[in-house]
Amino acid sequence: MSQAVKLEVKGITKTFPGVKALDNVSFSVKKGTVHVLCGENGAGKSTLMKIINGIYKPDSGEIVIDGKPVNVKNPIDARKHGISMIFQELNYIPEMTIEESFFVGSWPVDSIKKVDWKSIKKKTDDLLKREGLAYNSKTKLKDLSVSDVQMLEILKAISYDSDIIIMDEPTSAITNKEVRTLFEKIKELKERGACIIYISHKMEEIFEIADEITVFRDGKVIDSRPVEDYDLNLVISQMVGREISDSYPKQDLEIGETALEVKNLSSKGSFKDVNFAVKRGEIIGFAGLMGAGRTEVMRALFGLDKYDSGEILINNVPVRIHSPQDSVKHKIAMLSEDRRRFGIVPVRSVKENASLSNLKRFIYKGRLHKSEENAVIGEYFKKMNVKTPTMDTTIDVLSGGNQQKVILAKWMVTNPDILILDEPTRGIDVGAKYEIYELITKLASEGRALILISSELPELIGMCDRVYVMSKGQIKGELSAGDITQEKIMYLATQN
Ligand SMILES: Nc1ncnc2c1ncn2[C@@H]1O[C@H](COP(=O)(O)OP(=O)(O)OP(=O)(O)O)[C@@H](O)[C@H]1O
Ligand SMILES: [Mg+2]
Repeated sequence: MSQAVKLEVKGITKTFPGVKALDNVSFSVKKGTVHVLCGENGAGKSTLMKIINGIYKPDSGEIVIDGKPVNVKNPIDARKHGISMIFQELNYIPEMTIEESFFVGSWPVDSIKKVDWKSIKKKTDDLLKREGLAYNSKTKLKDLSVSDVQMLEILKAISYDSDIIIMDEPTSAITNKEVRTLFEKIKELKERGACIIYISHKMEEIFEIADEITVFRDGKVIDSRPVEDYDLNLVISQMVGREISDSYPKQDLEIGETALEVKNLSSKGSFKDVNFAVKRGEIIGFAGLMGAGRTEVMRALFGLDKYDSGEILINNVPVRIHSPQDSVKHKIAMLSEDRRRFGIVPVRSVKENASLSNLKRFIYKGRLHKSEENAVIGEYFKKMNVKTPTMDTTIDVLSGGNQQKVILAKWMVTNPDILILDEPTRGIDVGAKYEIYELITKLASEGRALILISSELPELIGMCDRVYVMSKGQIKGELSAGDITQEKIMYLATQN
């Protein structure tokens, strides 16, 4: 039995200053199915979803639901049409409480039209309890981890009882266990006849949940088929329009002196007795389940958080790091996991975002050397294939993946001796990932020490000389190249 069409998008075109984000796009989604959208960073996926959700107006084209053309005015109106959306960029207000974030925009009111806080609290607490989450409705978002905020966004979107649920990279920041929860929920949603539009750069998960796949490139639909008629290679070749290498550009490099050593680093409640070292020319990895304490260790090391005891040595000399400024002085750079909160300056241009922490490099004799700034940043942008209309475009308008690339470029330009990369390829398309691996290799070959935190095991196995595995705030073991397997990592990662 073939399912009825729920949502149809017809001939949608959308132009932004300097870019045609969507060019005459048409496709349709059937009831009770998962329709996956694939495409490189900047292909137009999120833009189309924002049009369906009423955030942008298309220049032309229409949206048809249940056979009737609709005019979705804004996200609240979208909900009336049975549409809800999980956004790619977690754009939350840190001071908001969980209950506020759940009901913002559609506050329930009581009989005298006053906001009904009692019912808000009850509904929120019920939902949290049902989902087994250990917070209460008054917890502020800033006190939650990235994965918790993401998971709440998912639960919120699902709780609206919508028929069309858009998920724009919902798993970019949640744990594997939460991914399983999400997939269970998707199954339930399908069973009740809802349809899901799902965007992800994680190829394994696409093939696990898709019923149909549509591939975008440069704002156009390239192809749309049932999942049975696709395989990984076909999706990738349609996405990038060229052959890409699926191996890792790891080289055997000369390993130098110890650049960084961490001794018995402890922070109550986060991590305990952490010992590790990284040499020049070496790429070390940190594996572990989300919440294992990897990010916390790096944040403390970088001076973003305090630690209780332990020692940090750079070039075998003990140093004190109390702030990111101290780290930068010691030539340490860190790409943070939560790019929204710690990475970008939204109102500034792409170029400013890339050069902000590097201005010194481009200033001599009191003058900013613009041409050199442009040349250096431009080179990184080219290597990573950053898609931006101009260098002066504000960073907000770039696609999610392209924003990530700008931030990565920023840290590459600081010319660090020690570079910490927390999930550097999250949200990056398959084509650009390889370029980033090449950059990492190049940095190591220049004698820099690299620390790579990643949830993608093949990435750690393919790129690292050694991998430390953390669980419950402690390093449970260390594996060396040739001896690093997914099984061994998972074994250590699940130790108590
Ligand atoms: N508000 C905006 N103003 C100007 N340009 C925009 C705006 N939003 C998106 N764009 C541009 O439209 C193009 C498509 O962006 P979109 O966010 O839809 O890509 P995407 O396919 O979701 O990519 P990613 O995988 O990186 O999330 C990009 O070139 C982007 O810079
Ligand atoms: Mg996007």
